[in-house]
Amino acid sequence: MDKIIIEGGKRLSGVVPISGAKNSALTLLPCALLTDEPLTLRNLPRLADIDGFQHLLNQFGISTTIAGSRPEDFGRVMTLAATRITSSVAPYELVRKMRASILVLGPMLARMGEATVSLPGGCAIGNRPIDLHLKALEALGAQIELAAGYVRAIAPDGGLPGGRYSFPGVSGGATENAVMAAVLAKGKSTLHNAAREPEIVDLCKLLTAMGAQIEGIGTSDLVIHGVPRLHGATYRVMSDRIEAGSYACAAAITGGEVTLKHAVIEEMEATVQALRDAGVTVEPRPDGIYIAADGPLRAATISTAPYPGFATDMQAQLMALLCRAEGASVLTETIFENRYMHVPELNRMGAHIETKGRTAIVHGVPKLTGAEVMATDLRASMSLVIAGLAAEGETQVHRLYHLDRGYERLEEKLALVGAQVERVGED
Ligand code: EPZ
Repeated sequence: MDKIIIEGGKRLSGVVPISGAKNSALTLLPCALLTDEPLTLRNLPRLADIDGFQHLLNQFGISTTIAGSRPEDFGRVMTLAATRITSSVAPYELVRKMRASILVLGPMLARMGEATVSLPGGCAIGNRPIDLHLKALEALGAQIELAAGYVRAIAPDGGLPGGRYSFPGVSGGATENAVMAAVLAKGKSTLHNAAREPEIVDLCKLLTAMGAQIEGIGTSDLVIHGVPRLHGATYRVMSDRIEAGSYACAAAITGGEVTLKHAVIEEMEATVQALRDAGVTVEPRPDGIYIAADGPLRAATISTAPYPGFATDMQAQLMALLCRAEGASVLTETIFENRYMHVPELNRMGAHIETKGRTAIVHGVPKLTGAEVMATDLRASMSLVIAGLAAEGETQVHRLYHLDRGYERLEEKLALVGAQVERVGED
């Protein structure tokens, strides 16, 4: 396992290249199942989760080739060809390592008429049920069976008829599975209270490029007219709005100024508003976003919410920034039941954060001090890096595999803008 050693106090300055979005790539990759023609995805981030998903797709007989990219390039081009599917089973040993594997359920069902996927367990931030995925697929006409820790979905002979489903709660993954199942249905499908995240829009844009017929893209009411088949496409993965927000917090906590190259301000308005509330300068640039924090940081009050609300995936990173604000900030995590595991570690660095249920009170402190800390989940580990960049002295963040799931070559990107960071292996 690797760790990262950070010597805090360096003001970040320069340009950070933002990679393709992990949470879009993980729903675009399984779209390869929906056609027997090649699908080429550009700007694919180099991440452990993407490698894991590629391995899962290979298990189904899908060939994947990476176009040559220079070592210094961020992102890759991958061509996937699902000419022949040799298995429709996503096994436990792969799914347990990456719960986004559940996103093969809908497209595999649409392509093969049946799919068997190991139930993804919970994870550090919550028990992560998939009941909405299954109810939506049933509404589209699938028969769902649960047995021996697996979910098996079966379409009536000839394929899913399509149908109507109103989500009782907003779910990105369930919306993605339902849309990927509906595009090849025999009839029309209507989804109400669907998730509207930019990653869902990216998925609908790719499917449209493959020949799908989807109305209401970007709204919470989607109408999908099933088509007999989809064709291949070449598509660029959107930029990662969560990575961009993370580096914005990193720059701001050091009192620095950076340009987030390729970031799209319209996709992260709630994050931008929160940063501005905290006293950070945020301005759009032709191909990115300019971030500067030359004055004192101010306390802010934030509640996470489904898009276009403030992203739960940004909560830990913003909390780290607010540790250095003047005054007390109030954060409320409304999406996941256990997403404050970064709090004890931040407090060990001199932060003063109190949590009570879903609410955290962040009392600003004049300084943070470096410490050895433990990463527990992807976004929590990024919040520790952000705190370490501003802390006095050295911070060591252990269990870096959490970070590698969602941040492409983090230490290289931080070094590009002047951070003193080093990745070292540890026993
Ligand atoms: C996606 O997970 C993201 N992952 C998560 O990012 C992100 O935190 C989450 O959306 C919320 O924005 C990917 O896109 C791969 P949900 P997803 O279904 O789709 C409940 C990261 O850090 N729910 O939108 O699994 C659920 O428990 C990761 O990059 C049900 O109750 O999340 C949660 O409270 C972490 N039943 C809420 O809905 C279901 O069937 C939102 O979850 C599904 C979800």
